[in-house]
Order: sequence, then C-alpha cells, then structure tokens
Amino acid sequence: MNILITGGAGYIGSHTSITLAKAGHKITIVDNLCNSNIEVIGQITKIIGSKVNFINGDVRNTSLMTKILKEHRIEGVIHFAGLKSITESVANPLLYYSNNVLGSISLIEAMQLNQIKTFVFSSSAAVYGGPAYLPYDEKHPTNPINPYGNSKLQVETILKDWAISDHTVKVSILRYFNPVGAHESGLIGEYPTQFPNNLMPYITKVISGSLTHLNIYGNDYETRDGTGERDYIHVMDLAEGHLAALSHLKNNFGVHIYNLGTGQSTTVLELIKEFEKVNRIEIPYKFSSRREGDLPSYYSDTSKAFKDLGWKTKYDLEQSCQDTYRHVKYIVQLSD
Ligand SMILES: NC(=O)c1ccc[n+]([C@@H]2O[C@H](COP(=O)([O-])OP(=O)(O)OC[C@H]3O[C@@H](n4cnc5c(N)ncnc54)[C@H](O)[C@@H]3O)[C@@H](O)[C@H]2O)c1
Repeated sequence: MNILITGGAGYIGSHTSITLAKAGHKITIVDNLCNSNIEVIGQITKIIGSKVNFINGDVRNTSLMTKILKEHRIEGVIHFAGLKSITESVANPLLYYSNNVLGSISLIEAMQLNQIKTFVFSSSAAVYGGPAYLPYDEKHPTNPINPYGNSKLQVETILKDWAISDHTVKVSILRYFNPVGAHESGLIGEYPTQFPNNLMPYITKVISGSLTHLNIYGNDYETRDGTGERDYIHVMDLAEGHLAALSHLKNNFGVHIYNLGTGQSTTVLELIKEFEKVNRIEIPYKFSSRREGDLPSYYSDTSKAFKDLGWKTKYDLEQSCQDTYRHVKYIVQLSD
C-alpha cells in the first residue's frame, strides 16, 4: 500500500517506516522536524536501501496535507506526529491541544477530501490515568491526568465519531506503554535534545556524559524494590505492531483499540541493573523525592492484540539495553 507516515522522522515513526518499507509498503513521510533531525531520513534510506519520499511540513496545514495525499496516491495513514512531553503539556496545554488535536483534525479533513479511510493512530497508555486495576486492559476506564493524555483521548473520541458518521472508515488506535531500544544498526534511536522525562533517555544522557547522574524519583513505592515499575517495549516490536494493525484493517471496518506493551513490569532499579550488566558499564544514580503525577505501577494486558492481530513481542529487556547502548555510542562518536 502507499502509506503516509506523519512524524516519520521521530523515534517511533522512523523505526516503523523501516518495518513497513521492508514489508513492501511504499512510504511517504511528513514531518516538521520540531523534535527530530533531517539526518534520520538519510539513515532510513541507508537501512532500507532505497529512497523515501520526505516532505518537511506541518500536519496542521490542511491544504498541504490534501495535496500530499493526492500526489502520492496515499491509501492509508499512520499518524505519529505529535508532542509527547507530559511536563511540557502541563506548562503549555494549548500547544498540546493545537498540535495533537488540531493536527489530527486537519489530517482527517485532508483524508476525507481524498476519500482515504484507513488510519492508524499513535495513542498512549496515558489515556488510562491511575489504575482502577492492574494490568491495564483496553476496557479499563480512561481518565487522563494531564493535558498530554487528554489530547490523546480527545483524538480517540474524534476517531470514534468519524467512524460512526462513515461506516467504511477503518481505524486502529494503538495505546503504547514505554517504548525503548533502537534499530539493530545503531543508526537511529532516541536521543533527546532536551532534559529527558523518561527513564531510558535519561540513562542515555548519563552514560554519554551529558548528565552526571540519574535521579530516581521515589524509592518508597509499594513495588518489589520501592521504585516505580513500567512496561518497557522494544521500539522494533512496536513497529511490528503497526504493521500487524495495518494488515488487520484490510478486512475490518470501524475502530479497533489495542494496548502495545509487553505485559511485564520492570522497576527503575531492575532496568538500571540490567543495563549495567548487559553493557558492562556503571550508571551513577541518586534517590530523590517522588515526582508529582508519577504512578507506582503501569503495565499492560496485551492479550487483545495477540488475539486479533496475532502480534506479540519478540525482544527482551536485554536486547533493548544492548540496542540503546549501540545507538548512544554511535551518537557520541559522531559528536566527537
Ligand atoms: N515515546 C513514547 O514514550 C510514547 C508513548 C506513547 C505514545 N507516544 C506517541 O507516539 C507518537 C510518536 O512518538 P515519538 O516517541 O516517536 O516522538 P518523537 O517526538 O520522536 O516523534 C514525533 C515526530 O512528530 C513530528 N511532529 C510533531 N508535531 C508535528 C506537526 N504538527 N507536524 C508534523 N510533524 C510533527 C516531530 O518533529 C517528530 O519527528 C507521538 O504522537 C507520541 O505522543 C509516544
């Protein structure tokens, strides 16, 4: 299929672009590079061995999106483009509603003008909010606790209403847990330019020498070792999840919601220890007080994705740690 990937220069979008291209899809990427680098497009080209169509543009520009969809004969869209920092969304909520919600509306309008009805949306486990029970399954109540989570849930609602108004629409909503790892080549991965909010990017900043040590926010939670536990999924498993969701939409109308995670929980200390062991390095850390808004435990039930999509994760935490380190070494060597 001819697939448009918005946000395809970003972390998850770039890995998914590779998986899709290798599966035989023809991909076109649109990204305004507000949180990514043009060099990623060159790396994707290198990995897949052929040129990708890339347009530097903003999904909120409906006329541009309409033109791109038409010119590239797009048949389906995977929508990654969005902002993802919870902290930033609390400080600047309008930015998040504008980019994430208005951006999605603009894209859907452009799709409607072109009669394109296949859509895969990057949602987030942040739509659930605090746990009514664990693990989170797709039936868990949604009650986001920050503007970022709200913006994702609002787009989910819009997509459901679109599918009610048109019964030939095919939508997959994917709620990611904690993506980690990098492509095995080391050429692409996640290396944030700003202060990292998530654990793995935080580790990468410490081991590359940009930060002196890691702060562990809270060691008095009711978990195995007192530190928070999360569900870390390798980004290439996530990429495969998008491919599986896209194939599933071939024969299924309506809106389909799936958790993409591993179903396993890992504490902060467990992840640090695994990273140190696998890569034979030391990660300096200090305990500090709990961070406002952090929950003790967050992990998925992924049985629905397995049942409907036949998808399950292949990579383990060891591989995630190895691949992350390989990418960090590549970045550090570039900047030397
Ligand atoms: N990484 C995570 O922990 C995580 C977890 C759950 C959900 N998500 C969601 O998955 C998607 C991808 O996340 P990621 O980790 O790859 O983030 P990322 O920031 O690496 O990638 C997002 C890309 O979208 C681009 N972009 C942002 N706004 C745009 C706009 N208006 N027009 C065009 N391009 C725009 C950015 O330049 C960036 O390249 C996001 O929607 C995010 O909210 C991410």
